[in-house]
Amino acid sequence: MDSLDLVSPYLFRYKNMNFLLKEKLRAKDIDALLDFEIRPTDIFLITYPKSGTIWMQQILAEIIGAVKPDWLEDVTNRTQIPMLEGGVLGDPFRPRPDPRVFRSHLYPDMLPHGVKNKQVKVVYVWRNPKDVLVSMYHFARSFVLLETPESFADFFQQFLDGDVLGGSWFDHVKKGHEAQTYLDIHFVQYENMLKDLRQEVVELCAFLGADLTDEVIDRVVEKSTFKNMKTDPKGNYKDLSETHIYKEPTMRKGVAGDWKNHFTVAQNERFDKVFKEKMSSFPLTCTWAVKE
Ligand code: A3P
Repeated sequence: MDSLDLVSPYLFRYKNMNFLLKEKLRAKDIDALLDFEIRPTDIFLITYPKSGTIWMQQILAEIIGAVKPDWLEDVTNRTQIPMLEGGVLGDPFRPRPDPRVFRSHLYPDMLPHGVKNKQVKVVYVWRNPKDVLVSMYHFARSFVLLETPESFADFFQQFLDGDVLGGSWFDHVKKGHEAQTYLDIHFVQYENMLKDLRQEVVELCAFLGADLTDEVIDRVVEKSTFKNMKTDPKGNYKDLSETHIYKEPTMRKGVAGDWKNHFTVAQNERFDKVFKEKMSSFPLTCTWAVKE
């Protein structure tokens, strides 16, 4: 067996990305995904962890379910839209109705070849990295397969070093953006969803070719608000809290700017310096806070 490149007792690194040691997935399984047979109707949701994955999962489930009611299975979104790199939390290869939607934290160039060759739809959600860091810090304290950080300061450094689940935020978002040269990809900014969820749903529907009435769009938006998702066990991963896989709810705060409650002034200056160094050529602009 090949030796693992350990990042910590909980994570190993492969192709510059970090994976959970306590899951069964190993390098050969990750490589095998490249040859996974893609259907032209497949849809991929790609995110760096804690960037709004379950939010977009809910929106996609609502949109597709509205277009094609028999698509909706009597399962949670987590099962209906499984994680490509699978693991303990669902089977991505089980038979299910088209369009099959997969979610993934893999870099775009690690996705099955068919995603590019068949030009299937890819939705990439990204979020300002300071809030991603905070959200992930809380998640690391919650998810039993992750190491509980010694302190926020420790986790802050691990995030900047790319030594957390998902690897480097900086690399992920840059690669995501570059992927528009070879994938049919639609970018959604988490903070824009906070500012005007309806507009983002309308643009997403246009990308997916989903022709919904204003009334149905209103319903998709309503079902996807933080308030409603918090009480919707289909979309909020409550089952993982109930089975103690998560110690805290995934629907934590759902805001932009919570980092201000966690970063010291010195940490913020340090973050800004690293951000400037790593993202100098990145053409998109982060939104660091949205008024509630
Ligand atoms: P916080 O921890 O900052 O609250 P992911 O699904 O990629 O793991 O991301 C989880 C983050 O998305 C959490 O952020 C969660 O609260 C937020 N989130 C999930 N659904 C949301 C919604 N409907 N509106 C706003 N934020 C949402």
